[in-house]
Amino acid sequence: MRTMKLGTSNLEVPVIAVGCMRINSLGQAEAEKFVQTALEAGANFFDHADIYGGGKCEEIFADAIHMNDDVREKIILQSKCGIRQGMFDFSKEHILNSVDGILKRLKTDYLDVLLLHRPDALVEPEEVAEAFDKLESSGKVRHFGVSNQKPMQIELLKKHVKQPLVANQLQMSITNATMISNGINVNMENDAAVDRDGSILDYSRLHDMTIQPWSPFQYGFFEGVFLGNEKFPELNQKIDEIAAKYEVSNTTIAIAWLLRHPAKMQPVTGTMNLERILDCCKAADITLTREEWYEIYRAAGNVLP
Ligand SMILES: NC(=O)c1ccc[n+]([C@@H]2O[C@H](COP(=O)([O-])OP(=O)(O)OC[C@H]3O[C@@H](n4cnc5c(N)ncnc54)[C@H](OP(=O)(O)O)[C@@H]3O)[C@@H](O)[C@H]2O)c1
Repeated sequence: MRTMKLGTSNLEVPVIAVGCMRINSLGQAEAEKFVQTALEAGANFFDHADIYGGGKCEEIFADAIHMNDDVREKIILQSKCGIRQGMFDFSKEHILNSVDGILKRLKTDYLDVLLLHRPDALVEPEEVAEAFDKLESSGKVRHFGVSNQKPMQIELLKKHVKQPLVANQLQMSITNATMISNGINVNMENDAAVDRDGSILDYSRLHDMTIQPWSPFQYGFFEGVFLGNEKFPELNQKIDEIAAKYEVSNTTIAIAWLLRHPAKMQPVTGTMNLERILDCCKAADITLTREEWYEIYRAAGNVLP
């Protein structure tokens, strides 16, 4: 598996992250097989959140991988906190308590990466900074980042947080590519010009923050998978054509499209299917041409000015 540095850190990570939000759909034996298959393909970076399955996903994962010190040093664990029932909470108390819960469920004493899951309107960056300092000095968390945040929110955190923010997890797929289209359509009157994210793509590149695209196969907000979907005939035709050329599956091409962007993104896959996780990993070996990348972008219905 091809690797890269996560953000400005020295942490070497596979270019594909394995999302564990859906691992509670598997039985124990299936979950074991799934994590082993990912590991054998070199995908040893696992993405979690305290809320996935109400905490069950982290527990199922720890059991499936048979967590112990030996296993722990071979994998990279990322989790997130900050979402509560009916609210978001970046208070020091909530962050510290959440991490303790995460570590217990994952059966480990440290996280490689902690992300703040979704912006808290009542965020007090001084408190976040205190929480991060405590988590860093106690050795509970080695690297920090955010999720679903725009540049000015990151700047606000950075006013007080001294640790580098190495990653930002954002919704992004071929069919959810507004962060790309707003940059292509600057100052136009069309919808594609609407900047919904404060130019997070350019900001991330300027500051060497790794974008982790989540839901790389979904359209809308978890409305379904665009691959093989009759709602996207032109897109599927184009992806299938390019997949045939490279002799890979459409799954591989959908991930290769994200990896082709020079921002050096690390897609977070969600599949629990053994064949599909391997197909996702194969994308690390494919570099689409500029022509292919734009053909797929346009086939998804995106317009060029
Ligand atoms: N930061 C955030 O706010 C946030 C939000 C959501 C998710 N995430 C992270 O991102 C990860 C990925 O999210 P996601 O699960 O929504 O991503 P996804 O990979 O876009 O979707 C996965 C789902 O699509 C199905 N699927 C994938 N390819 C398919 C195909 N070719 N045909 C039919 N079904 C297909 C999978 O089924 P199979 O299992 O059968 O393949 C699975 O149910 C999560 O695990 C989580 O770690 C983060």
